[in-house]
Amino acid sequence: MNLPNAAPELFSREFADDPYPAYAWLREHSPVHWTTLPSGVEAWLVTRYDDARQALADGRLSKNPDHHAEDAQGKSRTGIPGERSANLMTHLLNIDPPDHTRLRRLVSKAFTPRRVAEFAPRVQELTDDLIDRFAPRGEADLIHEFAFPLPIYAICELLGVPREDQDDFRDWAGMMIRHGGGPRGGVARSVRKIRDYLAELIHRKRGDLGDDLISGLIRASDHGEHLTENEAAAMCFVLLFAGFETTINLIGNGTYALLRNPGQRARLQESLRRGEGALLDTAVEELLRYDGPVELATWRFATEPLTVGGQRIATGDPVLVVLAAADRDPARFPDPDTLDLSRRDNQHLGYGHGIHYCLGAPLARLEGRTALQTLLLRLPDLELATPPTDLRRRGGLIMRGLRDLPVRFTPA
Ligand code: HEM
Repeated sequence: MNLPNAAPELFSREFADDPYPAYAWLREHSPVHWTTLPSGVEAWLVTRYDDARQALADGRLSKNPDHHAEDAQGKSRTGIPGERSANLMTHLLNIDPPDHTRLRRLVSKAFTPRRVAEFAPRVQELTDDLIDRFAPRGEADLIHEFAFPLPIYAICELLGVPREDQDDFRDWAGMMIRHGGGPRGGVARSVRKIRDYLAELIHRKRGDLGDDLISGLIRASDHGEHLTENEAAAMCFVLLFAGFETTINLIGNGTYALLRNPGQRARLQESLRRGEGALLDTAVEELLRYDGPVELATWRFATEPLTVGGQRIATGDPVLVVLAAADRDPARFPDPDTLDLSRRDNQHLGYGHGIHYCLGAPLARLEGRTALQTLLLRLPDLELATPPTDLRRRGGLIMRGLRDLPVRFTPA
């Protein structure tokens, strides 16, 4: 990789296509870097692996946007999606202990690894149904026809959103990601629709508990710590929105990385044909490290002065941990810019670290593994139907994902 000589331009079109050379420069020359984001907000970018891990677990870095030093008009301008007045924003990713501890314990009782494991056959069915729809055509846009609907239907089913409402959810979710999670216009409208729908659904379930996640949350709160209706709605909202764009990007970026690395892809395909799962397990972790769904961890704000990577950070300063940069740090990963599906010792930060470590990691792994395995086995000659230079990334600060992924294959 050619390293830029001078400080690279961040957030340009070229940067969106391939931010890794710029991140390599930052790791080397300015590992804790003060920058102005496209929204105009200034923040620290943390790019080295060790610093990133430390920052993610540092209790002095709060998740509560109220700790942001305010601008001249007395407003925080982090652009956290929706308005806090929608009340859905007081969720796990925006709160600190003790509220975080209480809510996380509660949801962990309902969203267990066992529940996810039991869901595996259904994820396989959803995956096959989606592939059935485009397989006879010999071509598809894997983002719109596959990576996007799969996680939405999966999380809707887990939560207990009735089938007849799931397409509404898909449309609201599509609206949110098309507009990059910004706080205005269509996004705010979608957030309000989701809020009203969830409030109604939770109310209905209270009178008729089932076997789903929302019923599990209500049960857990009735038997232990209290969960207000608003907290329940915010919890469902974070499960939805933390879980769908990330998984779209795991499937999208992951498939794209495999298509660009034919030798690695052939090895994986061969091992899957032999019915072996071991390479698939390490492959999904490596794809998360190599070009993960979450480019920057969500916002953190200093509640007191602290030092990260030798850099003094003042109270109220926003800190963004660049997971994509940390996961390519040569000080931690040998040959970090090479995709090595059998990479061992792969403690990547793709799911974060510390108390906000991804709650949905078991579900994400299940969906990622099922999606990639089924695609490679059912459409073995899958290939890109467009030059890579024509592919565009979706906008938005936190996530890293493709807008579309046109592919072709022998009709099946
Ligand atoms: C938190 C990544 C899928 C639910 C996080 C964080 C990361 C992450 C990096 C921590 C953010 C931070 O500390 O600022 C991913 C990736 C996924 C994925 C890469 C897919 C490949 C999911 C799914 C769900 C989910 C499927 C749920 C259905 C959550 C929740 C949190 C979280 C609720 C907040 C946890 C807390 O604050 O305690 N995720 N995620 N994620 N994720 Fe995921």
